[in-house]
Amino acid sequence: MAHFTRRDVLRLGSLGVGALGLSACRQGPAATIEPLTQPPDFTVAFLTDSHVDGELGSAEGFRKAVRHALDVQQPPEFLLMGGDQPMDILATGIDEADAQFRLWDAAVEDVAQDIHVCLGNHDILGISDESPLTADHPKYGKNYFLQHFGLERAYYSFDHEGWHFVVLDSLAIEGSGYKGWIDEEQIAWLDDDLSASDKPTVIATHIPIFSNFIEYMRGTAEGIPGGVAVVNSHEVAPVIEKHDVRLVLAGHLHINESFLYKGTEYANVGAVSGNWWRGERNGFQEGYTRLSFRGDALTKEYIDYGWEPPPEALEETPA
Ligand SMILES: [Fe+2]
Repeated sequence: MAHFTRRDVLRLGSLGVGALGLSACRQGPAATIEPLTQPPDFTVAFLTDSHVDGELGSAEGFRKAVRHALDVQQPPEFLLMGGDQPMDILATGIDEADAQFRLWDAAVEDVAQDIHVCLGNHDILGISDESPLTADHPKYGKNYFLQHFGLERAYYSFDHEGWHFVVLDSLAIEGSGYKGWIDEEQIAWLDDDLSASDKPTVIATHIPIFSNFIEYMRGTAEGIPGGVAVVNSHEVAPVIEKHDVRLVLAGHLHINESFLYKGTEYANVGAVSGNWWRGERNGFQEGYTRLSFRGDALTKEYIDYGWEPPPEALEETPA
């Protein structure tokens, strides 16, 4: 069972090897994401990994990112939140979870647009051995997230102006850990959902379906830890490739990488929190991703919203 902790992520980052954006067409048609030549019909902002807990200016930083995304000439028609909304509730009790989510809620309370939210690993309550909670608590595990956002389950879909959007639940809980996983029931649902749509589609997931991040950091000889990417990606990708999925957006890694496979771009994008509010992450600034749609064309752009960490954030040794 993979147990990929925040400390592991920071350790990977501390190797000091800069991860570069990657674009490689291995098979299939040319890139489906082309620059728009006309103004978009609509835009969407994807903000992921805000990790708000009030420390290191995180609440202020998240609010700044939201305002930066909204205060533009053509504001996004909805916000997609890519997961890890709070800093971490894996290891906390209810009071700390509530405190972190209160700060997150406050930053978006005046947002008029719809907000669609992905489940992140750090949105899962109390499964760590360090948490005082036990599994019989009514908000244990994914329940806190589901109840907080009024969801029956953490995967769902919706349409917007000729496009189809899918939010996946990319996490399995096993004991006191988690792994990237799309279960059998959800894969069947995804196939049915995409079959019922005739629209070009964007999928959002917290844990990437695929990633080259470990290869950037460690070379190619080691396996990919189960917390980094979806372990059963080989069962998910065949469903995706059967349908008109243009883009699969993911968070979790706090870096930007993307590649194209059979006409679908898999893009893992940078975090609102950068290196968990301690500056840039492997050379990637704190930021969010703007999607622009016109007809059946789509572009994406990673936007640095100008956050500068307070001096103490850069002086602290990561936990
Ligand atoms: Fe994260």
